[in-house]
Amino acid sequence: MTPAATKVVRGVTLRADPAREACFRVVHDASELADYADMSEVARRQRLHKHMHNEMQSLEMAAQSLADFPDAPWELRMSLARQCWDETRHTRLLYRRLLELGGRKGEFPVMNYEWSVTCMADSIWARLAIQNRTFEGGEMDLLRRLARMWADAGDSVTAELLEGILTDEIQHVRFCNTWFKRMAKQDPGVLWKVVSAVNFVRSVTQALQPAPGEVNAVGVDLNGFEHVEVLANIDDRRLAGFSEAEIAEILEQEDALHARTRQSSRPASTARPDAV
Ligand SMILES: [Fe+2]
Ligand SMILES: [Fe+2]
Repeated sequence: MTPAATKVVRGVTLRADPAREACFRVVHDASELADYADMSEVARRQRLHKHMHNEMQSLEMAAQSLADFPDAPWELRMSLARQCWDETRHTRLLYRRLLELGGRKGEFPVMNYEWSVTCMADSIWARLAIQNRTFEGGEMDLLRRLARMWADAGDSVTAELLEGILTDEIQHVRFCNTWFKRMAKQDPGVLWKVVSAVNFVRSVTQALQPAPGEVNAVGVDLNGFEHVEVLANIDDRRLAGFSEAEIAEILEQEDALHARTRQSSRPASTARPDAV
């Protein structure tokens, strides 16, 4: 990848940002985001705005994979094309809801974290491992809880919207898992690409870890953003094709995360500093 196609954030080389309309202010670090931790009116708009922008990135990543890997199996390319359509719909639904709540495009800073990490990968398998299996797998866990949070806050419209998006995300994770199982038999070398992709995400996560006490643009403690309360969405992970052994591993990681968090105020990981 040429230097022009990359950027450096906290010493980590990442893919340079995709094009954005002039109304958006693009930032590169979670400390520059204006993310709120509550459900106030401004926080509701900010949450929808961030989620809308993340869905747009999901569309862009899937589309970029179609463009970058024309020799990928046709069926896989069809799944990615369908995913593009789903992510477009998700973006538009969230944008509509944002407008209904009085928000606007560009109201809050945006960060292309998922794009910048995922699009560093130079194989279709590594891209799928990062985007679909890691980020969207994590989003499945988060969406179930977020839907409850919006319902508890009295907004059943947004809650139902998130439930609908979750249904599509399960399918995006599922087709990816199905392909990995198939490829594990046909070409075990693919699994090395998956492992190195996951290791890359871990190293980025480590490098971007906020310092203790570091706050974002609206004074919210970045370490307080760790979603330790997000328990793995076991039922949906089963539907998405994760094996019992993989689910057991996720639960073990969660236990370790909670143990470490109890011992220290530091978060154990920030896999998605711009998680919805
Ligand atoms: Fe989506
Ligand atoms: Fe998705």
